[in-house]
Amino acid sequence: MPTISTKDYVLDQARRRITTSPFLTLPGMGWVEKKLLDYPWPQHPWAEPPAGSNLKPVMGDGGLPIISHMIEMFRGGPDFWLHLYRTRGPMVLMDSPIIPSVAALGPDAAQAIYSNRNKDFSQQGWVPAIGPFFKRGLMLLDFDEHMFHRRIMQEAFVRSRLAGYVEHIDTVVSKVVAEDWVADDPRFLLYPAMKELTLDIASMVFMGHEPGTDKELVTKVNRAFTITTRAGNAIIRTSVPPFTWWRGLKAREYLEQYFEQRVRERRGKEGSDLLTVLCQTEDEDGNKFSDEDIVNHMIFLMMAAHDTSTSTATTMSHYLAANPEWQQRCRDESDRLGDGPLDIEALEKLESLDLVMNESIRLVSPVQWAMRQTVRDTELLGYYLPKGTNVIAYPGMNHRLEEIYPEPYKFDPDRFAEPRSEHKKHRYAFTPFGGGAHKCIGMVFGQLEIKTIMHRLLRRYRLELPRPGYQARYDYGGMPVPIDGMPIVLRPLH
Ligand code: HEM
Repeated sequence: MPTISTKDYVLDQARRRITTSPFLTLPGMGWVEKKLLDYPWPQHPWAEPPAGSNLKPVMGDGGLPIISHMIEMFRGGPDFWLHLYRTRGPMVLMDSPIIPSVAALGPDAAQAIYSNRNKDFSQQGWVPAIGPFFKRGLMLLDFDEHMFHRRIMQEAFVRSRLAGYVEHIDTVVSKVVAEDWVADDPRFLLYPAMKELTLDIASMVFMGHEPGTDKELVTKVNRAFTITTRAGNAIIRTSVPPFTWWRGLKAREYLEQYFEQRVRERRGKEGSDLLTVLCQTEDEDGNKFSDEDIVNHMIFLMMAAHDTSTSTATTMSHYLAANPEWQQRCRDESDRLGDGPLDIEALEKLESLDLVMNESIRLVSPVQWAMRQTVRDTELLGYYLPKGTNVIAYPGMNHRLEEIYPEPYKFDPDRFAEPRSEHKKHRYAFTPFGGGAHKCIGMVFGQLEIKTIMHRLLRRYRLELPRPGYQARYDYGGMPVPIDGMPIVLRPLH
């Protein structure tokens, strides 16, 4: 059983303090946040509506110079947006110098944006945030071209293909959870361990490397991938060596070379990893992906799958540690399955885990917002949005509305079960996987992966909080990240 050395632990803690946003760690920031929330920022319109249109202008402000409202956003996440929704209504201008945008809050706004009936909203809203690193990924394509690519990719996510991925996922998870994770140690940090596990899974399931093989190459690819993913959060948003944006572009180049080589190797071969499957898949009319398409899709898929699954499995473990009765209920179902190999049918029987997953991603939604851009002058909820406006829907906030979810901060998975089914009060009240044409194509894949991890974990360990009353805190700068790495104590069951 591996252990954690005190030296490594101290170094890791120090690194964590340096790399976490100072908005969260500097003393006195809670006081600053409160002052900023109460400050009466002078409001101005984003654009004047055309005369006689009866539309309202979206009003807002730029907040502080340069950093705009980053302090409140990074610290409060969905609670900051909830504050704006309650005090200013559903449409709020965030006139930040980095990405000026209009926040469209509440389930009605989500419905209009996701269903996109008149094709007013394009995915180009994502480009200023992640475009250079994930160019031509499925989520960044629009309308007919998007549909064309999605139909081909859909073939890689049909049930028979998913069955193949589950087998690989289970092989990696069983090994890592049993051999690499440290028991009985309150210094064990679940979030980085989970991140490593989901990368190990991706190396096999996405890229086709057998566990333990091609170690040096896989490590390099994973490192490049991590750098690319982080680059979107850069403060200096242009390519200046040695800063984050520049490093992200270099890492993207490396990934392109790696995947080009890998596609050449895997074309025409048999295999049940995602890359080989993408080399084979075609839509009903026989359309296939070019080599370049596969490279772009693979880089995006790795990103889309990785931090989302890591975040979900970490949040679930935290809530199960804090709620032993739910932990036992999930374990009882896992015990009925036992330690045999897993398949989709077996995972479907873990129904309490489904409730816990929903409740965990309601409370801490991995993808807090969806970015769009208007392709023409348009209206949303009676407000005027000129062409080229960046618009952000905010499911992470909608998931905390008490008119939909009574006692919204309480962990209460049964709210998703009949007869309560609180999430059904509005069609767009619960959208952790998005909605409409761009709804997450990997939703079932992700759910199966996460349930596999949780099943193996619950069969082996009792999950405990590091101390009574422990509260997790998140950095909401990108996907929510627990700022202390989320310590969880794993108590072996046998
Ligand atoms: C808990 C895990 C996950 C969550 C919460 C999640 C969430 C989301 C959300 C909210 C969107 C929509 C973004 C938008 O509207 O602009 C999305 C899109 C997407 N996701 Fe996921 N995702 C997860 C796992 C995965 C996995 C495992 C994969 C791949 C294996 C994946 C692949 C994608 C792709 C390709 C898209 C773009 C779909 C399109 O534009 O047609 N996701 N995801």
